[in-house]
Amino acid sequence: KIIVLDYGSQYNQLITRRIREFGVFSELLSHRITAEEVKAINPKGIILSGGPNSVYDDGSFGIDEEIFELGIPVLGICYGMQLITYKLGGKVEPAKNKEYGKAELEITDKAAQLFASTPEKQTVWMSHGDLVTQAPEGFETVATSKDCPIASIQNSERQMYGVQFHPEVRHSEYGNDLLKHFALDVCQCTGDWSMENFIDMKIEEIRQTVGDKKVLLGLSGGVDSSVVGVLLQKAIGDQLTCIFVDHGLLRKGEAEQVMEMLGGKFGLNIVKVDAHDRFLSKLAGVSDPEEKRKIIGNEFVYVFDDEATKIASDGSVAFLAQGTLYTDIIESGTETAQTIKSHHNVGGLPEDMQFALIEPLDTLFKDEVRALGTELGMPDSIVWRQPFPGPGLGIRVLGEITEEKLEIVRDSDAILREEIAAAGLDRDIWQYFTVLPGIRSVGVMGDGRTYDYTVGIRAVTSIDGMTADFARVPWDVLQKISVRIVNEVAHVNRIVYDITSKPPSTVEWE
Ligand code: XMP
Repeated sequence: KIIVLDYGSQYNQLITRRIREFGVFSELLSHRITAEEVKAINPKGIILSGGPNSVYDDGSFGIDEEIFELGIPVLGICYGMQLITYKLGGKVEPAKNKEYGKAELEITDKAAQLFASTPEKQTVWMSHGDLVTQAPEGFETVATSKDCPIASIQNSERQMYGVQFHPEVRHSEYGNDLLKHFALDVCQCTGDWSMENFIDMKIEEIRQTVGDKKVLLGLSGGVDSSVVGVLLQKAIGDQLTCIFVDHGLLRKGEAEQVMEMLGGKFGLNIVKVDAHDRFLSKLAGVSDPEEKRKIIGNEFVYVFDDEATKIASDGSVAFLAQGTLYTDIIESGTETAQTIKSHHNVGGLPEDMQFALIEPLDTLFKDEVRALGTELGMPDSIVWRQPFPGPGLGIRVLGEITEEKLEIVRDSDAILREEIAAAGLDRDIWQYFTVLPGIRSVGVMGDGRTYDYTVGIRAVTSIDGMTADFARVPWDVLQKISVRIVNEVAHVNRIVYDITSKPPSTVEWE
């Protein structure tokens, strides 16, 4: 296995993911890990990720330098390379020109291990404010670029490497080859790890953690929590109870479908809780998106609390399982990364919560979870469901939530889903839904003036939810959807299509 130490780059879990794609298990760990702990894990390689700091900043993230003495190959990426340089006696300085974007890299040492069999000149993705201006003793410079004379360093004897660019992002043309050389050639990993190993590993881990206690799972019907449900059922059988909370923010027909598919066909033990009034009364009058998310997150846990007490009042329900993915965590802000938005299942948990969390998917990306579901024998109808956020339609009615507005989103969304499926686009488009921005505008219907709501359509393509592009839905399909929504949903007289990508937008509007 290869471990990646986290220095706060938004891309750092992409590194672990690329490594897993080569059939080598990889996970992200805190940069505070000690050499002793690393020794206990006994990884075949260590990668130091990028990060937003400068090594000279107060409180910048460091490393237990003994780690460099363990004889385990090390690759430093961006900040990671600067850290190696700084700690081993080289020089790091602020760059005159901060570099951000594509750059041309020239490999100056043909024998450079990480660049084996890739072209002498290649495009790489740079993003940095500081530069290595002098490599540490024993290191040689093996690649340069116009604004970054020391773009890659190596010390073959100690098996230590550094690159200033980001090999993990797709814009670095041969970045994948570089990581592969590191994992398979330098670290000599065998590349025979698979999702099946992941399942076995997680089942073992879950059994160890849970012991003879009971576990509650918040089942949303989405891919993530459904996969966790099936995984947990395999691991601990009837120690698991799934709670499906109908918070009144579900899509049309959702509750029935979930109960039938997962409860019926898949045999999960599901308790359905009708918490409609409870959620909507707490949300009444609240329009701030972060506050809405926090209220929904908290309320979920209070419902779980109540259900846990009903199942066993002796406190034997000790765990709450969630389908949290890596993307949820990174965007909610971690020890090292900035908050983009609080995903309800991460930022929204109340501080006085009584459960310990079990989040077996927290290192995975969405497409990996789908692969996991398939490996677990789950049908495509569950595995390929489009993602649906925990806060549900609550973040698709912008601003204050009312029953009337929920009804508009629910009905327009059902029409959109029907038409996307009828056009055969449901597999190509990653996620598609309607939102109600709360704008009213003037229209004309029959002979009369109307003053009614605008519905927004959001449809995106994406691989993992981290970045997304708006889907190029054919005009005639959009037209049909538009006509149907205006005709069939009361109080709507205008439809707009969202043509922004993520970034700079996000997928959801709140
Ligand atoms: P954003 O809007 O952050 O969405 O670009 C990325 C993906 O995450 C989903 N999403 C959530 N999922 N809890 C969830 O379980 C949340 O609080 C949440 N917020 C956004 C969103 O639907 C998209 O697939």
